[in-house]
Formats: sequence, structure tokens, C-alpha cells
Amino acid sequence: MSTPIPSTASSAATAATAAASSVILTGDRPTGPLHLGHYVGSLKNRVVYQHDYQQFIMLADAQALTDNMDDTGKVHRNVVEVALDYLAVGIDPGKSTILIQSQIPELAELTFYYLNLVTVARLERNPTVKAEIALRGFERDIPAGFLTYPASQCADITAFKAGLVPVGEDQIPMIEQTNEIVRRFNRMTEREVLVECKALVPEIGRLPGIDGKAKMSKSLGNTINLGASAAEITAAVKKVYTDPLHLRVEDPGHLEGNVAFIYLDAFDPEKAALAEMKAHYVRGGLGDSIVKKRLELVLQEMLAPIRARREELAKDRGYILQVLKEGTAKAREVAARTADEVKAALGLSYF
Ligand code: TRP
Repeated sequence: MSTPIPSTASSAATAATAAASSVILTGDRPTGPLHLGHYVGSLKNRVVYQHDYQQFIMLADAQALTDNMDDTGKVHRNVVEVALDYLAVGIDPGKSTILIQSQIPELAELTFYYLNLVTVARLERNPTVKAEIALRGFERDIPAGFLTYPASQCADITAFKAGLVPVGEDQIPMIEQTNEIVRRFNRMTEREVLVECKALVPEIGRLPGIDGKAKMSKSLGNTINLGASAAEITAAVKKVYTDPLHLRVEDPGHLEGNVAFIYLDAFDPEKAALAEMKAHYVRGGLGDSIVKKRLELVLQEMLAPIRARREELAKDRGYILQVLKEGTAKAREVAARTADEVKAALGLSYF
């Protein structure tokens, strides 16, 4: 069991600030390999959080099925792929608990009770659900499981009594809806069984796609995956959107919306040299090819060790499955305790 609160004297300050809510729960739908956007927006932080918090990381395969029932094989395959991404970037299974959602039936059980604490109208008003329904073109044919997944996400979070949930901005409505259910449950049962949570939204905004679109996303085909080969990185950098008005080398260039510079800001460790490069670009006289050469070098250097670890780990699928099995077993004990408390609070305990 990872220790949620460090016991050494030097860690006392961290422990004190963490004590109020020392449990983190976060998750991903395993529908494809993770990419640089995930790295900047969440994976990097998880590697840090695991030292100070008890961190549960969920492979939300059951939630992924709510809009992938036509391709269950994709979800199955990507559970191991995403787990490989986790370990390759430095998530340590000795410190973080990685679990598979579908293998913890208590999560489905909790969902079933929480569904009575939320109305269909409220689910339909959830902005994230609303946007996803529009995006997927469900119109009136919304799978009931999809419409109600906020209640399932509430189960994910509350089962572990997580006080902190690191998520992207688009997930804030899920946290709000979770807290509504928590408050209603605690009020109705007159017990403080469930814990309210806070979203931990990364300060760094979301990373745009290589094409300049606001979001890096698998379905838009504008990603650089964490496991990308050297050749794939080269090809992606060639396609990176820069400044369409920067036609000749001597023209002054623009940094706003310039993906090459946005990525350099995120990943180039040499900030002083980068500042100089930006000034030169804006002044004019610096060609895109030089900027892209730097970007290529930075990305190749950053991703090479991640790719190497990923390839090494991928050779031993048995090890990955063992990590997932142990993490899931440990997580299930916690979820089962909460499910017992929830049922007792609802009068559903008999023997
Ligand atoms: N809905 C989240 C996403 O699409 C994934 C997820 C499932 C999750 N369960 C969670 C995130 C619990 C945080 C907490 O990214």
C-alpha cells in the first residue's frame, strides 16, 4: 500500500497541506494511445502527485463502452496500451494504484443507487454530456448508459473517497454533478459517508493539435503519440502549423497560434535560447525550417527515453497484466468498503 502521508520530518509541510484530502482519483477512457496533449495536461502531474498523495488511476473501460459498444475490441486492446503509456512516462505502480474500472463491480453497484439521486433533465443539461451527444450525432437515440455516465463517474470518485480529481476543464461539469449527488446522499441519509471533491485543473492550457486546431485529439488525426517512432515525429513536425503570413524568411513572424512555438514553450528546456529565437522570429529573418529543426530535436530527445521504456515494457505483457491485477484488487477492497457503507446508509443491510 502506498503511504498517503510522508512520515519523515522533512515532508511534514507537504503532509499537512495534503492531509485535508490526501486521496486522488483520476482516469482515462482507454480508446487509443495517449499523446503529448495527455502528457502536458495530466500525465506529468500524476508523476509528481504520486509522491504526496494516495493516487488511484482508473482505466475507465466501462465508461469507454458507453459510446463504443460497436467496437469493444478497441477498448480491450487499449487497456494495456494506455497502461504502457502510464508506466513509460514514470507512473510508478509502487506509488500509484492503477485499476481497471470494469473489474470492480461495486462501481456499477454504486452507480445504480446514485441514478436515483439525479434526474434525466439534469443529466441532459450536463454541458459535457450535451456537447458529446452533439459531437456523436446521437440526437434522440442516446444510449441510456451514455446519458447516465456522470452518475457512474460519481461512483468512480466517491468509491475511493477522493477529495481531489485532476481533470481537464471539460470535466468540471462531472465534478459539479458528483458533488450534487454527494450532498444529496449525505443529506438524505443524515450520514457523512460520501466525500465532496475538487477538480484539479492544470494551469497550462490544453495543447493544440499539430494542425493548429484547439485540441490534440485522436479523432482529429492531429496528435503526436507518446510511443511515436522517430520517423513519425519527423513527419509530424513537418506538418506542424506555424504562421501562414510568414511567407519569406525576412518577413516578421507571429507567435500567436503558432504551434511550433507553443510546443517549444511547453517542451524546450532552454528557455533563454527560446526567448531569443522568438524575438528573432518576430523581428524577421528567421525561417520556419530553423524553428522546426529545434522543435524536432527537442521532441526527439524528450520522447526517445519514453519510447524506449515503452518498448521494453511491451515485451512483457504478463508484467503489465500483473500490475493491473494487483492494482485492481487493492482498489476493489477500498470500493467494497464504501459500497458497504452506502448500502448500510440506505438501509440495505440485513445479515
Ligand atoms: N470522463 C473522463 C474522460 O473522458 C474519464 C474518467 C472516467 C474519469 N472516470 C473518471 C476522470 C473519474 C476523472 C475521474 O477523460
